[in-house]
Amino acid sequence: MADSGKTQGRGAWGSKLGFTLAAAGSAVGLGNIWKFPYITGENGGGLFVLIYLLCIAVIGVPIMIAEIMIGRRAQRAPVDAITKLTGRENTAWSMVGWMGVVAGFIILSFYSVVAGWSMNYGLMSIGRVFQDKTPEEIQSLFGVLFTSGGINLFWHLAFMLIVVLIVKSGIQGGIERWSTRLMPVLFLMMGVLVVDAMFQDGFGEAVNFVFGFHTDKLTSKGVLEALGHSFFTLSLGMGAMLTYGSYLGKKDDIVKSSIAISLLDTGVALMACLVMFPIIFSFGMSEQAGPGLVFVSMPIAFSQMPGGLLLSILFFFLLFFAALTSAVSLLEVVVATVIDQLGWTRKRAVFVMGSAIFLFGVPSALSGVEWFSSNWEALFGRNFFDTFDYLASNWLLPLGGLMIALFVGWAVPKEVAAAEFSAEQDGELEGGRLVLFKVWHITLKFVVPLAVLLLFLYSVGVITEDMLPGVASE
Ligand code: PHE
Repeated sequence: MADSGKTQGRGAWGSKLGFTLAAAGSAVGLGNIWKFPYITGENGGGLFVLIYLLCIAVIGVPIMIAEIMIGRRAQRAPVDAITKLTGRENTAWSMVGWMGVVAGFIILSFYSVVAGWSMNYGLMSIGRVFQDKTPEEIQSLFGVLFTSGGINLFWHLAFMLIVVLIVKSGIQGGIERWSTRLMPVLFLMMGVLVVDAMFQDGFGEAVNFVFGFHTDKLTSKGVLEALGHSFFTLSLGMGAMLTYGSYLGKKDDIVKSSIAISLLDTGVALMACLVMFPIIFSFGMSEQAGPGLVFVSMPIAFSQMPGGLLLSILFFFLLFFAALTSAVSLLEVVVATVIDQLGWTRKRAVFVMGSAIFLFGVPSALSGVEWFSSNWEALFGRNFFDTFDYLASNWLLPLGGLMIALFVGWAVPKEVAAAEFSAEQDGELEGGRLVLFKVWHITLKFVVPLAVLLLFLYSVGVITEDMLPGVASE
């Protein structure tokens, strides 16, 4: 590898804040606002949330530190980064990098479809479509959208185009610029929505639901769902944080940044619950609406509440911005790898890979189209969309996270890891930081592998519900 030539012109973050906001932008996404509230609802709130927080702290944060570390040390996209740290090409570890690219490809292809719905709903809000409609009519609006191939393809294309345009402009000019613009707006919108939610009748009930200690609906499956989701929501296990870390300078504190990013991500997820559940409860709707919570229950509530028009516009644009900054990081992993491996220009890599991902996402966009998806569903038991979501969240990301933990825990020399763990690259480790380092290193070596192994054994049915202790079964 010709080192200097490749490093030059790769791009770098303009500021520490820029990196933090871009990484938080990657983490905060549909996972926080669309998925977390509905899986919290399905799993009965309370204890599920607590276990999720534990997964973030014990498994998520350590892996995030490990990923950013590999990226910064190597200053390369995943595949090359691992080659560089091992000093050998095509070892079994390089698989991690390639898997990440595949995962990015798969996730973005269906992510873009849901993101497209958020654009559609944002515009429908502006067009006052939900006002003076009955709940049944609003419900059927979603049905119309879901089953219309043309509309889905249109929004999928529109969303991918925006993502392509941002990533094309590079690290500082594209990703950092848009993250530093959109993320503060997102936090502000979230704040407004939370304050409004505090005045809803159902606020107390919602707080109790999210933070109270309810064990009644949680099953072992829910525990593993919390674990799987902690990878997805923190953008771990496919090299997104690794790639963003590769544009990071020597002076930054990886440990502090990882904690900040995780706190922001968790904060937004909890706030999303505090925005949605008060409204859901105030209107006597079920918290168990599943994926339809955002696209059916919320518009129904917005159509009936004072100020609902403005709130719905805020809400769906929030969802769109959150999805956009995450999608950008998904495409960046694929693009950065192609630039590293094939020596393509950024522009070419972005257009070719963006188009490929768009095409790959076509089946997901057509998931609700009966004649198209019925055969697939008969074969795999779920539509395209759910198949990809399941594959990514339950298999690819945990497997990627496991390999990253094993790689940094066992293969990377401990001195190298220590040098990255200190407050700035190659600094000294002492006092509390040294203790933290030791705990972190042991977590990567043993705790993360064990947790992921359990997840897999459960997924393939070697471990079943009644073999696991503790939580209530259905
Ligand atoms: N973290 C994003 C979300 O919560 C999704 C994502 C996963 C983004 C993996 C990048 C990599 O929506």
